[in-house]
Amino acid sequence: MKDNSKFSSFGVIVAMAGSAVGLGNIWRFPYLVGENGGAAFILIYLAIVLLISLPIFLSEFVIGKRSQSNPVGAFRKLAPGSKWHWVGILGVAAAFVLMSFYCVVGGWSTNYLVRSLGFQFSSANSPDFAGIFSNCVETTWPPIIYMVIFMIMTAVILLGGVKSGIEKFCKVMMPTLFFLVLFIAIYAMCLPGAGEGIRYLFRPDFSKITGNTLIAALGQAFFSLSLGMGCMVTYASYASPDENATRCSVITAISDTSFAIIAGCAVMPAVFAFGGNPESGPGLVFLTLPQIFEKMPLGSIVAILFFLALLLAALTSAISLVEVMLAYLIQEFKMKRGVALALVFALICVVGSLCSLSQGAVPGLKVFGMDFLSFMDYTSANIMMTIGALLTVIFIGWKLGKGIFREELTNHGTLNIPEWFVNMEFFIIKYVVPVVIILIMVASL
Ligand code: PHE
Repeated sequence: MKDNSKFSSFGVIVAMAGSAVGLGNIWRFPYLVGENGGAAFILIYLAIVLLISLPIFLSEFVIGKRSQSNPVGAFRKLAPGSKWHWVGILGVAAAFVLMSFYCVVGGWSTNYLVRSLGFQFSSANSPDFAGIFSNCVETTWPPIIYMVIFMIMTAVILLGGVKSGIEKFCKVMMPTLFFLVLFIAIYAMCLPGAGEGIRYLFRPDFSKITGNTLIAALGQAFFSLSLGMGCMVTYASYASPDENATRCSVITAISDTSFAIIAGCAVMPAVFAFGGNPESGPGLVFLTLPQIFEKMPLGSIVAILFFLALLLAALTSAISLVEVMLAYLIQEFKMKRGVALALVFALICVVGSLCSLSQGAVPGLKVFGMDFLSFMDYTSANIMMTIGALLTVIFIGWKLGKGIFREELTNHGTLNIPEWFVNMEFFIIKYVVPVVIILIMVASL
């Protein structure tokens, strides 16, 4: 009988890429680029991915692969009798906070897909864009209902388990997603007037960089690669103990980053070609883009493909977020998969509803001046994941040590990973990443 609790070699990579490529790439990245001055933000982001994210990714991979456990169990196994398992608990909590707003945006995507299938964004139906946005996002029931539908799709995949659920679906969804986004990007770049958008993406204006740009780029680099909250620990624990950590990490980081850039090339040229505002923030994809689809030749078809891509991207990430919580409940509390799933489903739907209501139906749902959804986004991406990532590298650099790091990267000397690479990554993990994270956190205050 095949083991349903482990990924195949290809499975680890598609599942990790599936987790990484998500709303972060298609919804969050383009609007952050718009809010933070275009190409300068992209350059900083690329530097952070190479210098900071990749070493963190390797650290998480090593922790998961060596322990073969959920994030909390992993730290318990690797540092028994210490308080390190709190880092795992912080991770599971971050997954919860993140998922409770992720499912809301996943619901908007589902709703927009359904509407595009009904050609509601086609000029023939003289759409009222603000009205549609308001109905999908700002009312009481439609957003909550679609959030629940999104959660049901997530749960159905997860019920299949690791190999016949997560791996099987990612193997189909990821290639589909890739071709969809690539096709839309090529189409958008061929539109007359698209050049302005390309220039915006690739010609940097460094005068726009501030402390906030840095923290936004750092937060996005964690968010987009699913770092600092035990997701990659969990997925790596489903990999075989002799998986090549470096190869998986590098492939995932490259796929995720190229995806973000391709998504940028799908969104920005279209925005510029039709005179949209690139700085329209979180509404960029849901409010600005549909108006562009209406004007674009074959726009109703592009709209369907785009929102399908958005939904697939959201689903493959949502399953990884929920799986972090499931792995924890199943392994630490000996719960059955179905019971754990029902529990998480219910809790997420409750908190997710609050996030959803904060978008307009209950305007008073604010924390520190931010609506509840933005607050959950900010808390998870810019605070919990940053602290989680910081503690993870400190754990590898100062507690687990270079010997174990080398053993896991080279699989006890059987893989040909150059010594200089191991030394360099370990040095970055031990000194560079903690210093940079702390500096950026201070700068943002
Ligand atoms: N990486 C996902 C995205 O880009 C979000 C995510 C974060 C998923 C953390 C899992 C864990 O949308």
